[in-house]
Amino acid sequence: MSIAAFIEQRRSIRAFRPDPVDRRLLDDLVEAACLAPAPHHSRPWRFVVIDSDAGKQALADGMGARWRVDLEGDAVDPARIDELVTASHTKLTTAPALVLACLTWDGLDRYPDETRQRAEWGMALLSLGAAVENLMLGAADAGLASCWVAAPIFCPESARDALALPTEWLPHALVLVGYPDPAYVARQRPPIPLDVLRANR
Ligand SMILES: Cc1cc2nc3c(=O)[nH]c(=O)nc-3n(C[C@H](O)[C@H](O)[C@H](O)COP(=O)(O)O)c2cc1C
Repeated sequence: MSIAAFIEQRRSIRAFRPDPVDRRLLDDLVEAACLAPAPHHSRPWRFVVIDSDAGKQALADGMGARWRVDLEGDAVDPARIDELVTASHTKLTTAPALVLACLTWDGLDRYPDETRQRAEWGMALLSLGAAVENLMLGAADAGLASCWVAAPIFCPESARDALALPTEWLPHALVLVGYPDPAYVARQRPPIPLDVLRANR
């Protein structure tokens, strides 16, 4: 298969068979992630592989509690809050494995001004996206399903503290990993409107 076809074939799959994923396979995915391009030869990422019930539960509880506070602040109906938080909790605790991608300042440049400091962190964040894409492509190559979940970027400290991670590890992306439920049908991809998304000069 061509690389283009392979990239097209990767889909976000949100339903899994209950089978566990071998730790070595999960480590291979983390290694693939770590081959991503990164600013000035840094690797400003840390990956937490979570496949224990206790770990999944702790992360889901910690982020769920934070989300509940945010939704209450938005004056969302309490029944709806319960529904949303429970669905998110179930999604995390029923996935066979989770990989939590964190950012760290280790290896990044420091600037005295806020503007360049923010740009440096932005570069790290871009590279984390490339790393997560590598991880998901590696998963697809291994016959695994994966889906990126945004939650930790909204509550990095809650995610970090839920798993007792070092203070300087800031969770920014979560990937659910497992063997795909064969009944799952991926959402239809909209066509790519190149004339809107691309400019020629
Ligand atoms: C930064 C980011 C955050 C995402 N967050 C979620 C999420 O919280 N829940 C979810 O089901 N999918 C999430 N996704 C997956 C997207 O919905 C999915 O990539 C998109 O719909 C395109 O589908 P595809 O990956 O199958 O091509 C996220 C993707 C990205 C890149």
